[in-house]
Amino acid sequence: MTFSIPFNRPCLAGNEYKYIAEAIANGHASGDGPFTRLCHELLEQELRAPKVLLTTSCTHALEMAALLLDCGPGDEVILPSFTFVSTANAFALRGAQLVFSDVREDTLNLDETKLESLITSRTKAIVPVHYAGVACEMDTICEIARRHQVAIVEDNAHGLFARYRGKYTGTFGCLAAQSFHETKNVTCGEGGALVVNDANLIERALIVREKGTNRSQFFRGQVDKYTWVDLGSSYLPSDLLAAFLFAQLEGRQEIQKKRQRIWEYYRQHLEAWANQQGARLPVVPAECEQAYHMFYLILPSLECRQALISHLKEQGILSVFHYVPLHLSEMGRKCAARETHCPVTEDVSVRLLRLPFYNDLTEAEQARVVAAVTVFGG
Ligand SMILES: Cc1ncc(COP(=O)(O)O)c(C=O)c1O
Repeated sequence: MTFSIPFNRPCLAGNEYKYIAEAIANGHASGDGPFTRLCHELLEQELRAPKVLLTTSCTHALEMAALLLDCGPGDEVILPSFTFVSTANAFALRGAQLVFSDVREDTLNLDETKLESLITSRTKAIVPVHYAGVACEMDTICEIARRHQVAIVEDNAHGLFARYRGKYTGTFGCLAAQSFHETKNVTCGEGGALVVNDANLIERALIVREKGTNRSQFFRGQVDKYTWVDLGSSYLPSDLLAAFLFAQLEGRQEIQKKRQRIWEYYRQHLEAWANQQGARLPVVPAECEQAYHMFYLILPSLECRQALISHLKEQGILSVFHYVPLHLSEMGRKCAARETHCPVTEDVSVRLLRLPFYNDLTEAEQARVVAAVTVFGG
């Protein structure tokens, strides 16, 4: 079925074709070419991070984080149940056991008030997910992590350029993972980045990303041949993708402005309807500058959500839901350290609906979405 208003559509920022042509002309199509370096520099400067390394996906950046922290059997990792499977898989792949936390009712972020009760002597890492690009309560999470000497790995897939108390998300944990998947604000189709905030992890991050070899030391002239020195895999994207991504990163201010307009339009035009229907819109606490990554509705019931998805579908509009709670999934149960209760996750996951949201979504298209939503339920 085709939709006249899809959920997502790839959008260009301007120089993508030009830079890809340059990348081909450069004769360096594999990883870590000139465009990869430009992306690294831009992100390091903007985020003020000691090191940013492009990866083939956010999933792979999370896998690198699990390797760098030496997560393994006997370790526990705390993460929200309300997240994408990659947040969990990365650590489960290393044999770590998962401790699923519930989320806050307002932001749908890891509930920091429950965090401390989940920590044990085996806890290796906490993985907060900045859902919808709205920051978790990082003051509390960082304080708890520091006191218990537990690492923080931020899953910042949604939150590039969001801030918490003025500081970019993705710069709080020793490591953070970004996504440039096609649904994200800034994209190259499939892509990601590992933000290395703890400078002590940089050298090993370079090795892990290069199949466990010291190849980058070889290119820097520090060793006369390179060899296998650690566990690793091939986590670096082609410079052709980096060329596309660089054009998007250069256009980041324009992209963020467009997405802010889209988000504000939905909020303004759906607030009254939501109040009437007992639905609710996203909550952004005062200390958070959000990334304008998504716009969601939380409907009064599962039946109501399903009916609205079908109703929009009849109008040619694709809306989607997520996430299916991980603590209830088959693998989640197998990988859990112990059973935990996540009532908020179970409740919102059946009631949440995401509206179409992409950089080139026009006001006319949005007006159609709003009209279709607001006739629903009378
Ligand atoms: C919270 C979260 N983490 C990780 C990912 C995985 O990102 P990627 O597709 O770049 O691997 C996603 C995907 O959207 C996500 O929503």
